[in-house]
Amino acid sequence: MGSGLFLSALLLCLSAASLWTVRAEDPYLFFTWKVTYGTISPLGVPQQGILINGEFPGPNINSTTNNNVVVNIFNHLDEPFLIHWSGIQHRKNCWQDGLPGTTCPIPAGTNFTYHFQVKDQIGSFFYYPSTAMHRAAGGFGGLRINSRLLIPVPYADPEDDYTVLIGDWYTKSHTALKQLLDSGRTLARPDGILINGKNAKGDGSDEPLFTMKPEKTYKYRICNVGLRTSLNFRIQNHPMKLVEMEGSHVVQNDYQSLDVHVGQCFSVLVTANQEPRDYYMVASTRFMKTIHMSKAIIRYTNGKGPASSDLPEAPMGWAWSLNQFRTFRWNLTASAARPNPQGSFRYGSINITRTIKLVNSFGNVDGKLRYAINGVSHVETETPLKLAEYFKVPEKVFKYDTITDEGLPEGSTTITVAPNVLNATYRNFVEIIFENHEKRLQSWHLNGYSFFAVAIEPGKWSPEKRTNYNLLDAVSRHTIQVFPKSWAAILLTFDNCGMWNLRSELTENRYLGQQLYVSVLSPALSLRDEYNIPDRTLLCGVVKGMPLPKPYTI
Ligand SMILES: *[C@@H]1O[C@H](CO)[C@@H](O)[C@H](O)[C@H]1NC(C)=O
Ligand SMILES: *[C@@H]1O[C@H](CO)[C@@H](O)[C@H](O)[C@H]1NC(C)=O
Ligand SMILES: *[C@@H]1O[C@H](CO)[C@@H](O)[C@H](O)[C@H]1NC(C)=O
Ligand SMILES: *[C@@H]1O[C@H](CO)[C@@H](O)[C@H](O)[C@H]1NC(C)=O
Ligand SMILES: *[C@@H]1O[C@H](CO)[C@@H](O)[C@H](O)[C@H]1NC(C)=O
Repeated sequence: MGSGLFLSALLLCLSAASLWTVRAEDPYLFFTWKVTYGTISPLGVPQQGILINGEFPGPNINSTTNNNVVVNIFNHLDEPFLIHWSGIQHRKNCWQDGLPGTTCPIPAGTNFTYHFQVKDQIGSFFYYPSTAMHRAAGGFGGLRINSRLLIPVPYADPEDDYTVLIGDWYTKSHTALKQLLDSGRTLARPDGILINGKNAKGDGSDEPLFTMKPEKTYKYRICNVGLRTSLNFRIQNHPMKLVEMEGSHVVQNDYQSLDVHVGQCFSVLVTANQEPRDYYMVASTRFMKTIHMSKAIIRYTNGKGPASSDLPEAPMGWAWSLNQFRTFRWNLTASAARPNPQGSFRYGSINITRTIKLVNSFGNVDGKLRYAINGVSHVETETPLKLAEYFKVPEKVFKYDTITDEGLPEGSTTITVAPNVLNATYRNFVEIIFENHEKRLQSWHLNGYSFFAVAIEPGKWSPEKRTNYNLLDAVSRHTIQVFPKSWAAILLTFDNCGMWNLRSELTENRYLGQQLYVSVLSPALSLRDEYNIPDRTLLCGVVKGMPLPKPYTI
């Protein structure tokens, strides 16, 4: 080969690289967050809360597709701390995922800067602390990704855009709750429900949480940020038009109420076309003997008169919730940023290369309660799994594939406590079956991906059930509930390299081991597939002081 040819090939590479850099320079959003303790009394009982810049819940992040988000977090707590950006895919970049399996926690008294791009995503998301039981004290907030101006959304621009964070709440501190779990007990029932950190008294003294101008349409982004309780959400006299769910535009049906399971987010449109007065929005517990509820006031700007005390009732039983799930359909014609590769538009015709059946269980280990997946209860390691893998010393920290793909034999109660890491093959198209043999509802979340939620059905799964999958317009999302004694199936391509957490969104279950990590490595170890460890990444455990491995260069 002549050196001229070589040079032009090199120049071609260089110009391609600089083109990429130019395109990658999307707008930046900078935040500085001070995380502190502070006294809050959301249920009238003063307790220790976790505040961000003095706020509970934390500030909203308002971003647009492809924005670079830079958040410099100062940890003023007395414990290590991390924030996880739930539903943000961090393509090729699990370094920013903010979980104990990928990052060393930010030591008390220090700061750390997250830098991630909300690449090809739209929708309603939230962030929360992933360390200890910090989420029980606050530190969570809304994260929205608006569509770029050039890309039309399938509805008219709303008059305003409101974030509604609903969740169960405990008046015990996060340390007291952690002690309960550490001593082998359970969290028991929550003490109440909050809407954006509040609970209206209903005695006429409440300030409105939101206002609406008559005849205008508003977007409400509703996320369940709680610890364990499924909630039903509704607004007096106002149907909600569902437009988006966990990052996908959906077929726009009207709902009188929506079941929002832990970790899930919905965007709805609400039109102020009723008699001008106050109305309550209501969030109430589902599947519990004692019903807790919380309400908040929406005020018409021309309103005269208080909200009626006649609150709409919540549906009963979980069959209703299953039927509602079945009405959720992806809008195949809506244009929007989509994180999935082109192939997954026809996800129904891709051959499944691996079926992973995951069964949740619980039991006692050394007299203490543990929760497991396929009989393995995950423990967090001092060295984050991803760092051990990146520094090529996984054997010092964990073993791959401690569970099999076959689920759990009927009646098995054995639980092994160990780090739980699945080895997945890059770009495999897989089917994951969640089978819930228990009497309690489950909610599962996968980081780094959107998956097609193709079925939820009562009973046990078997291969013949595949004929019941929605292979046309299942919603591409990141969280799925599994009803008692039921199963759910999801399909996805493992096309995002990294170490990704799959977990029960029920905080007690997750904290006591019901989670695992999926390791997806590209055989090429190339920058095209995964980013190098960022500068200034915290190192801890066995990798502390180790020389950095040779970075990927191409
Ligand atoms: C959020 O960002 C969008 C796009 O930049 C902007 O139009 C909108 O006003 C912002 N909303 C808030 C509440 O800041
Ligand atoms: C800590 O904050 C300072 C700015 O106050 C910043 O220059 C520095 O990069 C931050 N450190 C980390 C590790 O993010
Ligand atoms: C789907 O999106 C298209 C394109 O924006 C829109 O015209 C249509 O009304 C939506 N369909 C449904 C059923 O919501
Ligand atoms: C998928 O599987 C079917 C049946 O086993 C086979 O005929 C087909 O060629 C496969 N398609 C691809 C794209 O591998
Ligand atoms: C993970 O799976 C890939 C094949 O998909 C294989 O090449 C690799 O050796 C496996 N790694 C481990 C640690 O088992």
